[in-house]
Amino acid sequence: MKVGGKHYRTVWMEDHAVFFIDQNLLPFEFLIRQSHSYRQTCHAIRTMQVRGAGAIGAIAGFAMAQAFFEAEELHDPSIIQKAKTEIESTRPTARNLFYAVEKVYASGHGSSLTAFNEAHAIAGKDAEDCRKIGEYGNGLIKDGFRIETHCNAGWLAFVDYGSALSPVYKAHSEGKNIFVYADETRPRSQGARLTAWELHEEGVPHTIIPDNAGAWLMSQGKVDIMITGADRIASNGDTANKIGTFEKALAAKALGIPFYIAAPLSTLDMNCKTGKDIPIEERSPDEVLFAEGPDESGVMRKIRLASPGSGAFNPAFDVTPAELITGIITEKGVTDASQDGLRRLVAG
Ligand code: MRU
Repeated sequence: MKVGGKHYRTVWMEDHAVFFIDQNLLPFEFLIRQSHSYRQTCHAIRTMQVRGAGAIGAIAGFAMAQAFFEAEELHDPSIIQKAKTEIESTRPTARNLFYAVEKVYASGHGSSLTAFNEAHAIAGKDAEDCRKIGEYGNGLIKDGFRIETHCNAGWLAFVDYGSALSPVYKAHSEGKNIFVYADETRPRSQGARLTAWELHEEGVPHTIIPDNAGAWLMSQGKVDIMITGADRIASNGDTANKIGTFEKALAAKALGIPFYIAAPLSTLDMNCKTGKDIPIEERSPDEVLFAEGPDESGVMRKIRLASPGSGAFNPAFDVTPAELITGIITEKGVTDASQDGLRRLVAG
């Protein structure tokens, strides 16, 4: 997608360096950072400078490729296994991370160059898959639709295009009159900060809503369709996504609003039989207790939001059971959230 008229991907690799957009600074500053070792790249994932299932997958693949280069340079093959374990421990929920690391690890035993080529191919496929998700998802969006989305499953969360927002961009580019409600998505506010920034950059009419406003809006007939992303889809269609997705799906079901998940098949984990098998990341209580942003003079500040005597519990994801999901939009088409439907797509 374009920023200031120039096309960017969220992550890419040149020689041995990984380049990425620092998402922690957005929407206040647009900065490209570089990482020169797999350890630095792990830091970028852990601290969420790069976040979102597809972007995490792509950068984790690049980190694995960097480990092969480092092992070669230092004549120390033990780095490769150590790096794999370390990269896989950065974030536990998004399937794409493990998918990419496993593929690059397996291909790198030819040479570090084959590892680099594999990582590059994974990133390219992520972008292309998301472009196709846009085409299939666009078929579900009618002129005049009001679309609700949760968290950021836009191009920042992938290598390009996005998952949940890719159909939105496609519909907008075709001249459909659409409007997006972006859930703010506490505690890290990926909706208010990242989704809103993306939509503004692309000129898509939208507004930010508090997380607890979704059910009310739906009950008022103001939402025609809800589309969110996914961090991991179990083989029965149960889907892990940013915390708060489950309660939106419950509201949508109760109120008869179609609720779709958009994700590339690299998010599908056939080894997880149901959502109960998906590991859920727990993040620092500080994300709930504090907020960060620029003050009126533009200086970044961290302020406490909560009562000083209290701690916080901060699960980063929840699982939406398959029966609440109207359909899953993938690069191979739209399926119902069932084992048979997903199997058919994988085989097709
Ligand atoms: O914790 P994050 O910001 O990495 O969360 C992952 C997500 O981006 C969302 O759950 C998103 O909706 C999934 S699609 C990338």
